[in-house]
Amino acid sequence: MPEVFELPEDNLFNVFNILLLENKHRLVKQLKKCYEPNVHGHKTWSSSFLLMDYFQTEQVLKRTSKVLELGCGWGAASIYCKKNGAEKVTGLDIDENVFPYLEVQAALNDVKIEELKRSYDKLTARQFNQFNLIIGADICFWDDLAVMLEKMVKRALNAGVKRIVLADPGRQPFLDLAERVSGFAKVSLREWYVCDPEYYDGYILDIRPAKAKAKAKAKAA
Ligand SMILES: C[S@@+](CC[C@H](N)C(=O)[O-])C[C@H]1O[C@@H](n2cnc3c(N)ncnc32)[C@H](O)[C@@H]1O
Repeated sequence: MPEVFELPEDNLFNVFNILLLENKHRLVKQLKKCYEPNVHGHKTWSSSFLLMDYFQTEQVLKRTSKVLELGCGWGAASIYCKKNGAEKVTGLDIDENVFPYLEVQAALNDVKIEELKRSYDKLTARQFNQFNLIIGADICFWDDLAVMLEKMVKRALNAGVKRIVLADPGRQPFLDLAERVSGFAKVSLREWYVCDPEYYDGYILDIRPAKAKAKAKAKAA
């Protein structure tokens, strides 16, 4: 059974041994006066907890993991990765207003997360080269995001990224993304649930490079 932690103050919660802010926490209320995220980055989304459970169960993280979190928002999954041994973690988001929330949560957990303000479609091969694991929670919620992320996955794998793990409640654009990526990469799409901080279920899409023949086909496409 998990260890019981005494929370240092109200309106925090502990999940997978990291501390996160509830929306009614006094610091969130203060941050909201100055920074208003505008692409749904206004809270920690529960797909982050699916990722944490998957990483723990499948022992995804290594001491050599260099992690890029796409659409990091308040950075819960990034913080989990850094707390659980990843060598380096960068949170990427198109919306700079999410980073102050990420910074407060990172400080609360005594970790450092690098920040990158960028859209998925603007990542270059040189940037992909700095990472061996790309992750993302609740980032594929519009049809055009599925198209953008499919192209990004292709470019990341061609640049040498070894693994991409995405979590989602199971929205249609995410399921479409899984289908499309399976045309050029090795894909596992699994239903997953988590009981911490409460019951939640969804899907984990785990993507790895295809074998050489299929990879050559993807490059030519
Ligand atoms: C639903 S929130 C999920 C946040 C976080 N992953 C979580 O689970 O709490 C989606 C995040 O993706 C970001 N986002 C949306 N479109 C993006 C894009 N094209 N490039 C980078 N980030 C994007 C938003 O700013 C937002 O922070």
